[in-house]
Amino acid sequence: MKERKLAPFPEDFFWGASTSAYQVEGASLEDGKGPSCQDVKEVPEGTSDLTVCADHYHHYKEDIKLMADMGFKSYRFSIAWTRILPEGTGEINQKGIEFYNNVINECLKYGIEPIVTMFHFDMPAALDARGSWGNPESVEWFVNYAMVLYESFGDRVKYWLTINEQNMLTLVGPVIGTLTIPEGTENVLKEIYQQNHHMLVAQSKAMVLCHEMLPNAKIGPAPNISLVYPATCKPEDVIAAQNFNAVRNWLYLDAAVYGRYNSIVWAWLKQNDACPTFAPGDEEALKNGHPDFIGFNYYNTGTVEADDGSVEESPFGGDQQNGGGVAGMYKSYRNPNLQQTEFGWEIDPVGFRATIREMDSRYDLPMLVTENGLGAYDKVGEDGKVHDPYRIEYLRRHIEQIQEAITDGAEMLGYNPWSAIDLISTHEGMRKRYGFIYVDREDFDLGTMERQIKDSGWWYKKVIESNGEDL
Ligand code: BG6
Repeated sequence: MKERKLAPFPEDFFWGASTSAYQVEGASLEDGKGPSCQDVKEVPEGTSDLTVCADHYHHYKEDIKLMADMGFKSYRFSIAWTRILPEGTGEINQKGIEFYNNVINECLKYGIEPIVTMFHFDMPAALDARGSWGNPESVEWFVNYAMVLYESFGDRVKYWLTINEQNMLTLVGPVIGTLTIPEGTENVLKEIYQQNHHMLVAQSKAMVLCHEMLPNAKIGPAPNISLVYPATCKPEDVIAAQNFNAVRNWLYLDAAVYGRYNSIVWAWLKQNDACPTFAPGDEEALKNGHPDFIGFNYYNTGTVEADDGSVEESPFGGDQQNGGGVAGMYKSYRNPNLQQTEFGWEIDPVGFRATIREMDSRYDLPMLVTENGLGAYDKVGEDGKVHDPYRIEYLRRHIEQIQEAITDGAEMLGYNPWSAIDLISTHEGMRKRYGFIYVDREDFDLGTMERQIKDSGWWYKKVIESNGEDL
């Protein structure tokens, strides 16, 4: 076979990693922070609550120093809405502003680009009580919050992400502890997609406002995008894959980029009497928003087959990466060609390339990887260090595929895998670790909270130093 010459990573590529506020910060009600839905939810059995997490709130200086030691060029983190606006709207909590000013300034001190997610699974509890994203006012709540962020941090933050994994909020909201469906809701599917609609409009308006207030900043969405394969080349399976691709992926990016609903999804919602109601001006608002880039999280691909009638009526099921199915649309299928992590998520580096290529041809925008990574049961070895060759292997194979995709013509802005530091998983607690930095604590034992860079972090330092040449 003819050898392919790979294009290099761009010079200013953002090598870094990610966290989210509610999973890493702790100090969940400290210094005036209001409770979010994550603080009041029922904690999944056998896992830690979110009061302390990695205690990043008190360790941010040390943590960012360690990121600098690894040579990070970027750090993607989220701002907790309720640290800034404890009730979601109304009074600003200056202590919250101060905390993120400190985090941002600490990053800049080391030449690390702060990439800020505005909303990562942590709806203010006070707004949940007012109907959450189901309330049409939620659009203005979010835009007002966005304005406070731009005013407070826009002089230094150049890269913004709107809503983390809106598609997962919609598809598996209860599993990740968010998206509240009011009791007694008759048409749950319609309620879910009405909430989703408000998020889409809010996102669009926040992008417009960003461009107005911060002409030099760039903003984009951050959905979880997994290309969906058909289980076989049976035409019915191909239709099922198209259905799940539309429901899982393209709905979100078609709306963000083109300001329109994906027609497969719209038709399916119509069949179920679940089309969202547009408020006056929504259509225009969707059209007005234009992302500068696509931020996306990638963990693996999906595979589906046609529903043989066995998929139950209830929508979705599973978690972010393990789909259930939708009656008449698709049924999830274990891909026999792929290995799995210890937590049952498939591993598909080549699918990463395929996913990027597909987005490139659909949307023709630069792309920023905002998550990717391996959750594992890391342990401290007898020498006191954390040896995680499995993570190095996972990351190496995925980085290789980014380079393939760049060679294919995709414009890639950066790679920010999950996670910079060990933190609490969405529903698997502290035991499912992703970090380059190990934190000495377990689910129910807060340990010493000491940090150390794992083998993967030292390896990543070399990758960054060589701009992706030394893998
Ligand atoms: C993404 C989320 O879905 O995947 C993160 O944006 C999450 O918040 C990450 O932690 C890994 O998922 P999990 O369920 O293993 O924590």
